Amino acid sequence: MIRSNKGYFGEFGGRYVPEILRPALTELEEMFEQLRDDPSFWQEYVTLCQEFSGRPTPLTPLRRLSAKLGGAQIWLKREDLNHSGAHKINNVLGQGLLVQRMGKKRIIAETGAGQHGLATAIMAARLGLQATIYMGADDIERQYSNVFWMRQLGSEVVGVETGARTLKEALDEAMRDWAASVETTHYVLGTACGPAPFPELVSYFQSVISYEMREQAMKQMGQLPDEVVACVGGGSNAMGAFAAFLEDQQVALVGVEAGGLSMKTGEHSIRMLPNTAEPGIAQGYKTLFLQNQDGQLGDTHSIAAGLDYVGVSPILAHLSQTGRVTPERATDSEVTEAFSLLMKTEGIIPALESSHALAGGFKRAKTMRPDQNVVINLSGRGDKDIFNIARAFPQAEWPEFLKREAVRCQQLVDDQQETN
Ligand SMILES: Cc1ncc(COP(=O)(O)O)c(C=O)c1O
Repeated sequence: MIRSNKGYFGEFGGRYVPEILRPALTELEEMFEQLRDDPSFWQEYVTLCQEFSGRPTPLTPLRRLSAKLGGAQIWLKREDLNHSGAHKINNVLGQGLLVQRMGKKRIIAETGAGQHGLATAIMAARLGLQATIYMGADDIERQYSNVFWMRQLGSEVVGVETGARTLKEALDEAMRDWAASVETTHYVLGTACGPAPFPELVSYFQSVISYEMREQAMKQMGQLPDEVVACVGGGSNAMGAFAAFLEDQQVALVGVEAGGLSMKTGEHSIRMLPNTAEPGIAQGYKTLFLQNQDGQLGDTHSIAAGLDYVGVSPILAHLSQTGRVTPERATDSEVTEAFSLLMKTEGIIPALESSHALAGGFKRAKTMRPDQNVVINLSGRGDKDIFNIARAFPQAEWPEFLKREAVRCQQLVDDQQETN
């Protein structure tokens, strides 16, 4: 596992926050420093993941797809099979253990695709905590099924209407709440970004992915994989998939960002490739941020809400600048193609975020030899994306069904209002 130098990874990272948040971050850092090297804490965490989330997740060989593409053997690390359908629960369960130790009763979180919000709502229900989840108003529209479940689980979901109405604004709003409620509230940050110690802490909990993957590769392939590929939003599933291999220089680590519609400014969310983002300080930390000519945070786009973010983990910014992580991109159309290919050839429904890793991984596997192995981290499943996928593959029967369903739901609402 990578360790920061006082919260920094090379030039990136740090803690640029209002004075009022410093004591909470220091408390969190001190607790993390005490626990991170304690094998009994790691065991407590792994046991919780096993009992509640179904770990270890399998390493699945894609035999038919590998033969079809004709290159390396492709494997999937199945984070989609976690309870809640994505890797986000790993971090949330870990932070849940910390909240219990701190004795706080309220948690807040930001969410993009809603998977982190959903995982947080699940944790809040299980531990009896009060939860408020901030989500960009556009992301609410894109991922409404997750919003529905968060509310059913008893969490408050607050739509953020400012700016581009996506993850960046949700994070700002969560920070604002935290500054006003820090005495009683823990901020469950959902990705490997934000002020120290969050990037390191989130990566630590997510590293369970690659420690499992390493053991499974030795057992199932008889060797370490040649490449590990993950999609990169804020960077938590990628850090989780890479952490255990950082010292193994023979294992290539590939991070796939959202190539969106084109390389034009505002039409993608690529931060690690040259000539896209610049170093900057925002949202409590220093990293590569997409910026406009005045140095303001720039606009982003991705078909996947979870990758539609203006910054990137300071750890990945550092690892890509030092050459340990290779950045790649996948466009929206490459993503829907990879999504469809996996579904039809292997019977697995991936999340759109994870389909970026599939697109990048398939492309690289095709150029490799059949005796080589590529592991793609399947960070989540596609159930939440049903509306977006229906738009990407338009068929008349879907809008017709939605119209009928809207009439049925409206009728129930009207009946209820009449009886009240
Ligand atoms: C399924 C899935 N994969 C990936 C991501 C991207 O986040 P991160 O880069 O932190 O793994 C998200 C974010 O919501 C997600 O829901």
